[in-house]
Amino acid sequence: MANVVVVGAQWGDEGKGKIVDWLSEQADVVVRFQGGHNAGHTLVIGDKVYKLSLLPSGVVRPNKLSVIGNGVVLDPHALAAEVERLTEQGVAISRENLRVAENATLILSIHRELDALRESGSAGTKIGTTKRGIGPAYEDKAGRRAIRLMDLADLSSLRDKIDRLLTHHNALRRGFGLDEFTPEAIYDELSSVAPKVLPYMDAVWRLLDDERRAGKRILFEGAQGALLDVDHGTYPFVTSSNTVAGQAATGSGLGPGAVGYVLGIAKAYTTRVGEGPFPTELFDETGELIGQKGKEFGVVTGRKRRCGWFDATLVRQTVRTSGIDGIALTKLDILDGFETIKIGVGYKLDGEVIDYFPASQGAQGRVEPIYEEFEGWSGSTAGARSWADLPAQAVKYVRRIEELIGAPVAVLSTSPERDDTILMKNPFEG
Ligand code: IMP
Repeated sequence: MANVVVVGAQWGDEGKGKIVDWLSEQADVVVRFQGGHNAGHTLVIGDKVYKLSLLPSGVVRPNKLSVIGNGVVLDPHALAAEVERLTEQGVAISRENLRVAENATLILSIHRELDALRESGSAGTKIGTTKRGIGPAYEDKAGRRAIRLMDLADLSSLRDKIDRLLTHHNALRRGFGLDEFTPEAIYDELSSVAPKVLPYMDAVWRLLDDERRAGKRILFEGAQGALLDVDHGTYPFVTSSNTVAGQAATGSGLGPGAVGYVLGIAKAYTTRVGEGPFPTELFDETGELIGQKGKEFGVVTGRKRRCGWFDATLVRQTVRTSGIDGIALTKLDILDGFETIKIGVGYKLDGEVIDYFPASQGAQGRVEPIYEEFEGWSGSTAGARSWADLPAQAVKYVRRIEELIGAPVAVLSTSPERDDTILMKNPFEG
């Protein structure tokens, strides 16, 4: 029996929510292993809509264990608020069904402020972040001065840790001409929120190992997308965590063998929020139309997403960097009715044809996509539940994508409704 990791194969917002929900129904344990409350997953279950940023998707279903792994950066206020919101919606959350890694790094108000300041344009490069403090919190983790969840359980030594953290942050703040933070303010912030989050704390590595040995099915729920990975993405226009599938192991405390089947989620076209290169971006009415039909606005920030054609070169690259076994292709129905559809199949860089996305920022900005043009389809794919329901041209489009990216389409999603799905392979069946 395989465990499954789900990762975005583009720049995030690939429609992971629906797929993860379907998989979480079959899982015993659902684990978040990177990112924080910068993610935005919408789950529609019956007549209820749940919006999750930090909690694993399994939390809305009974008898599932949800786990926030050590690879996540945890804003304790965001966790408390999300738990409260879901409780109001009738979801029961307790230590019975939610555990948070004791060694998860905390996001504090200093991180949120610093993120917003850097994004204000007055300091450094604008990345177009979600301003949740994600980047600054990961910086402190790597800088070995972060406050971690377990530190809230030992208030006697918390002051020393805060002092060490502020030695760094107050120097930065002086540089920006800002008032310094007092240790008391941070201490008060943390000690007041501690009782709301400590009940969920656990040694997650051990818990997950026990679950795995007991034969439980584990679903690792990735956030963002592989092209936002801090190593493999469009650096520096990336998030500050590893978003590729390998992080499922490191970010939860299991060995790589525990990860199992890697399902990449890709949209039948491409979108991106924030700054950074996007070779197949459309600046015309076709791009506008894709955005309108696809409702391409961010769940977390409400920002309008940039839209463009499917870029097979990029997805082929993420298939390799994440070891993707199969793809869930989403939102095919948004392309219904287009006379012509294009797929990016390679790039021209300084007059040369290349079949990969170069790593340098300069080259990423200069590549020009090479397109293959497809006749669109006049019938509808919306709501299709079998291959036989799809127009022949749409099947051809999907088959060509498989060929170009070097991975099979395991799942095809044809509307936000959970039953509007064509299943070629159940990832849990290996
Ligand atoms: P950060 O993760 O807030 O630091 O933002 C860094 C980059 O990742 C920005 O371009 C964001 O728009 C992008 N990003 C972060 N989270 C998501 C997500 O869940 N979906 C899509 N893009 C995201």
